[in-house]
Amino acid sequence: MVKSRGSRFASLAAVGVLLIAAAGCGGDDDKGDDGSGDGGNGTTGKVGVILPDSKSSVRWETQDRPNLEAAFEAAGLESIIQNAEGSPDTFIQLCDQMINEGVDVLIETDLDPDSGKACIDKAKNAGIAVIDYDRLTLGGGADYYVSFDNVVVGAQQGQGLIDGLKAKGVTEGNIAFINGAATDNNATLFKQGYEQVIKDDGSFTVVADQTGDWDPDTAGKVFDGFYAEHPDLVGLVTANDGMAGGVIARMKAAGVEGEILVTGQDATAEGLANVLQGYQTGTVFKDTSLEAKAAADLAIAIINGDDPASIATGSVNDSVLGVDVPSVLATPVWITADTVKDVVAAGQANAADICKGIEDLCSQYGVQ
Ligand code: BGC
Repeated sequence: MVKSRGSRFASLAAVGVLLIAAAGCGGDDDKGDDGSGDGGNGTTGKVGVILPDSKSSVRWETQDRPNLEAAFEAAGLESIIQNAEGSPDTFIQLCDQMINEGVDVLIETDLDPDSGKACIDKAKNAGIAVIDYDRLTLGGGADYYVSFDNVVVGAQQGQGLIDGLKAKGVTEGNIAFINGAATDNNATLFKQGYEQVIKDDGSFTVVADQTGDWDPDTAGKVFDGFYAEHPDLVGLVTANDGMAGGVIARMKAAGVEGEILVTGQDATAEGLANVLQGYQTGTVFKDTSLEAKAAADLAIAIINGDDPASIATGSVNDSVLGVDVPSVLATPVWITADTVKDVVAAGQANAADICKGIEDLCSQYGVQ
């Protein structure tokens, strides 16, 4: 199909015309005008990605962006990758821009179900396929979902806390949860995982349970409140490395860092350094290059009009719509001090960033 995508999509969207599905509509007229360009394998098409923010986790800019760029480049796709920086209004503006620029596939990580769905609706009205990236927009109706098995992520956090406590000889006691943001479906799935594992194990009592809103400072304050009320806490499931960092800062102020065990997620440099120092019992390594590759593979199939069913072999239920969304789900890995080096070997963290000021620990654990 010959087309001048930018102008065509803009004008058709303006008059509210419903375009046919993007499958098979990959054009070639604006190849190389922006984004990462054509990888030289003959495939053309343009994808737009909206990332949520850079504060709730450094992963979005330090891991996802470079991995997505590399995956699109390898696939010969042009790409526009933008970050909504925590603002639903910006999220919608970026969505409009990408639709007007004529992306063939829109890939989004929502900030909340409302703005996430609003963007999916706009894209679908313009005939653009949508892939939910990392977070499923509940009730959104995206065509595909790319993520990790997020209940398993949570189960690894719960089991990691139990194992860390038992390794210290702590076989019972009070623990607490600091969960992710209530607007993020993943936070619900993570909690399902750790709650179940801790219940099945039966050794520890959950005495406090609150959201830290994916915010390090908020998580630190939540910890202060928990600790004031339960000074006998032995451990905390803290849902990601950023919040764990906020909690550990408050533990240092109280002089209990390393005594009350904390979990994390994302295998960030900060998290890995806290693991090596024994402040964090572990972190979940989600190799975002796998997520990025899955998104690129799906986009290519959609653009070429191939059936993506052989790629999206899994499914995740959207409980609001009552439908199973075809999905690609990668497998997360629990990391302790002994395996921090594996994250570096996988190219997903730099020894230089992790080891600043803790060079001895890095050489002890073979992190280089
Ligand atoms: C992601 C986590 C991330 C959190 C905060 C979740 O949806 O799966 O990796 O730490 O959002 O950004």
